[in-house]
Amino acid sequence: MSTTSQLLVSRLNPEVVAFLSTPVKMFIGGQWVDAAHHETFTTRDPGTGEELAQVASGTAEDIDHAVTAARHALRTSGWPRMRANDRAVILHRLADLVDKNAAILAELESLDVGKPYAQAIGGDIPSFSATLRYYADLSVNIRQREPIAVKGHEAYSALFPAGVAAFIIPWNFPFLLLGWSLGPSLAAGCTVVVKPAEDTPLSTLYVTKLMQEAGVPDGVVNVVPGFGETAGAALAAHPGINRMGFTGSPEVGRKVAASCGANLVPVKLELGGKGAAVLFDDIDVDRTARALAGAITLNTGQVCCTATRWLVHESIWDEFVNRSIGYLNSVRIGHGLAQDTGMGPVVSQKQQRRVLGYIEKGRKEGASALMAGGAADVSGSPGGFYVKPALLTGEPDNICAREEIFGPVAYLMPFRTEEQAVELVNRSAYGLANSVWSNDLERARRVAESLVAGNGWINAHNLFPQGVPYGGTNLSGFGGGVNAPSTLFDYLRSQSIVRPTG
Ligand code: NAI
Ligand code: MG
Repeated sequence: MSTTSQLLVSRLNPEVVAFLSTPVKMFIGGQWVDAAHHETFTTRDPGTGEELAQVASGTAEDIDHAVTAARHALRTSGWPRMRANDRAVILHRLADLVDKNAAILAELESLDVGKPYAQAIGGDIPSFSATLRYYADLSVNIRQREPIAVKGHEAYSALFPAGVAAFIIPWNFPFLLLGWSLGPSLAAGCTVVVKPAEDTPLSTLYVTKLMQEAGVPDGVVNVVPGFGETAGAALAAHPGINRMGFTGSPEVGRKVAASCGANLVPVKLELGGKGAAVLFDDIDVDRTARALAGAITLNTGQVCCTATRWLVHESIWDEFVNRSIGYLNSVRIGHGLAQDTGMGPVVSQKQQRRVLGYIEKGRKEGASALMAGGAADVSGSPGGFYVKPALLTGEPDNICAREEIFGPVAYLMPFRTEEQAVELVNRSAYGLANSVWSNDLERARRVAESLVAGNGWINAHNLFPQGVPYGGTNLSGFGGGVNAPSTLFDYLRSQSIVRPTG
């Protein structure tokens, strides 16, 4: 551990300090192992820019070992053939262990991603355990064999685990998205290979210890940290996987889908968005301004479905803008582990440059700043990747109105009529999530249904209850989404058995 940790070390959980003090290994076939080439990479604390830990850096060889281990576990671990009840018991045990170790996991997540500890312990970590419990319970309530009534035959369909499920996970919600990936695939009886993001591998690697303690058999979950171009690309192209789930940028999503296509492996893509919030003139302006300031600063704006375009009815424009600026100015920017932090740094210097670069490009294209944004200084953390919230306004074809920035930057546009608002929202190439804010619920539903996206919310933004399908359309992805009962079936294959009865 380096100087970051010198600063914080007295406040860190001793278990976290111990975990970070030696190179963190990858987890294959139930063993913590070095990379085949013995290489490591550095994961940083974005709050200080300093090194947090060295992590084994996987390449194609390690991916091959992991897929081999996962295939071996399909045959030998008993996991795919275990009764759903027995798997569910183990998944519940894992969920309980995650809750019991939530403080450790939240500290790791906060350090690695930069997110406020309160958000990690209140959101990311409990979401993981809730997702595991949801799919464990769902899996015991599906019918594995379903009779089919047909003349002259005895027929039924049966469901079996799809095989090896592979996941490539991004850095914005590493642990929550791990849960969204593992919950349905493990409950279905698949074995798994995970490639966490190179910026944020720590919570995914730590939880493998809890998996062993919970009784997840060796080889059922394998974790290979490493870079996208090496480990990620090798996983997507591996012929030994049966399902792929990718969350990240559309640029990489295309490559992953192409690799999977070459092997005819079904792929699920979750690729970000350019979500809009449509604010009608009958809303509680103050409450809505507060909610949207919360949405754009949540996880420092690094949320694929968040409200990044704010369409504001012209009659409430001035009041709404003023109140939003007030709320955004009151958000305290700081280190994720500092007690009063409302918004942490962005995840990396690359991401900080991206956010600042977009603001600059947007302004060059003619956007004006209602709130300028820019790099933020946080005393005591001079090397951290902090940015201030920004509010821009201008033409709908501005780059900042079209492209995903992934930072605390919202683009505001006034509208007069409902049709105009719908047209503006639907200009986006993305289609992940939008919200409509109005006390006229009939109008709110009508508009919500007119906005082309996988998700529509009314008088709220960023809602993810288990059981509600979450996914995108157009540039935001395809493949069935996550979090729904149907997600479980994406990790099961169906087989029909027929016998003539004369
Ligand atoms: P990325 O798409 O490069 O990274 C996501 C994951 O893909 C990481 O695990 C990475 O290692 C892996 N990856 C990268 N190249 C790969 C390849 N050739 N083959 C297989 N896997 C590969 O995203 P990046 O560059 O970190 O962020 C850029 C932008 O992407 C963000 O600013 C944001 O707009 C968007 N993004 C969207 C996310 C979402 O939640 N939908 C999450 C992360 C990024
Ligand atoms: Mg990190």
